[in-house]
Amino acid sequence: MANSKYEYVRSFEVEDEIMLPNIIIVRIDGRNFCRFSKFHEFEKPNDMKALELMNLCADAVLEKFPDIIFSYGFSDEYSFVLKKTTKFYQRRASKIHSLIVSFFTSVYVNKWKAQFPQKDLRYAPSFRSRVIGCASIEVLQSYLLWRQSECHLNNQYDTCFWQLIKSGKPENEAEEMLKGSLKQDRNELLYQSFNINYKKDIPEIFRQGTCSLRTVEDIVKYKEDGSAVKRCKRKFTRVYSENIASRRFWNNQLCLVKELGQFTEDLSKTKSEYVKSFQHESRLMPSTWIVVRIDGCHFHSFSDVHQFEKPNDAQALNLMNSCAAAVLEEFKDIVFAYGVSDEYSFVLDKGSTLCERHARISLFGRPDSGHKALSY
Ligand code: GTP
Ligand code: MG
Repeated sequence: MANSKYEYVRSFEVEDEIMLPNIIIVRIDGRNFCRFSKFHEFEKPNDMKALELMNLCADAVLEKFPDIIFSYGFSDEYSFVLKKTTKFYQRRASKIHSLIVSFFTSVYVNKWKAQFPQKDLRYAPSFRSRVIGCASIEVLQSYLLWRQSECHLNNQYDTCFWQLIKSGKPENEAEEMLKGSLKQDRNELLYQSFNINYKKDIPEIFRQGTCSLRTVEDIVKYKEDGSAVKRCKRKFTRVYSENIASRRFWNNQLCLVKELGQFTEDLSKTKSEYVKSFQHESRLMPSTWIVVRIDGCHFHSFSDVHQFEKPNDAQALNLMNSCAAAVLEEFKDIVFAYGVSDEYSFVLDKGSTLCERHARISLFGRPDSGHKALSY
């Protein structure tokens, strides 16, 4: 399309550059994972293997995209923080989040069998994604506090709820017992009724969520003549902390301080106006056509590595077509699809209210922009 008479198509793309000095966060979240976890019989309230699968996918994302230097995840969600000065895809939100969610999802499917050898993946999971721009390090700190509080609260509630169910209480009764309860009440309930010390007996991966940091290590290599040379080796470190938004945790991680800055004070609460901004989503105009175009990222090398026939590989095209058919089956608001080579366009019904017309639409991200998907 570049330098062709169709170049004008680019004018349909959304202008969504996240300007400097905003810090870019991408959050992905399992779509209807309540159903997915039931279908695949995840252990309640936490399934260690399912969490480990999420963590492995996050590691793969960090490995693939060097500008991501920190990730934090729990349950069916993950947040990825890019270094402040990133120029990845000219800082265009739609490109960045669609690439990350697409790659994450395909790794999830790829690694499923190794993680769950006894369970078939019964249907294709999908994840939503969005970009959050943080105007300062203080806003990023608030964001982390907000997500980890959500992890703490959800996990404590779910732990109580499933203990009550296991003890024979019907669901509505368990819900009633927990209604309006405070953190302290729930700790007490666990201790008094089930002899569970929440902090001591529940693994930190469930209570605190998982962080990964990109760190750089100096290593010494020896040349053939025996002389030593210093090299930088990138690696990831998984860490657990009760308070990832604390100065104590953050300021001790040199790589985070270098790429994002220091936390200057501890926070006890996230400002409600910040939470509002984290939840804000732009909506597309009602009664307009929405077109979502997906486009393979680096598919030239993907097709080389997988030895696609040249110039057209019928099987590869059939695979694209059957994926498009699955998308049409899943999202009833899509009324038309057209594909060629490694791209597909999906047209949504004018009256569609899919995802309330939020610009982020599940696995394929933002409409009207040339998405670069790594996999489908
Ligand atoms: P949307 O994100 O709005 O599409 O809904 P959702 O169904 O994905 O729910 P949400 O993201 O709010 O919460 C995640 C849900 O995933 C939880 O409520 C659980 O139902 C499920 N889930 C995530 N991890 C586990 C797990 O380890 N075990 C079990 N049993 N369920 C899990
Ligand atoms: Mg979800």
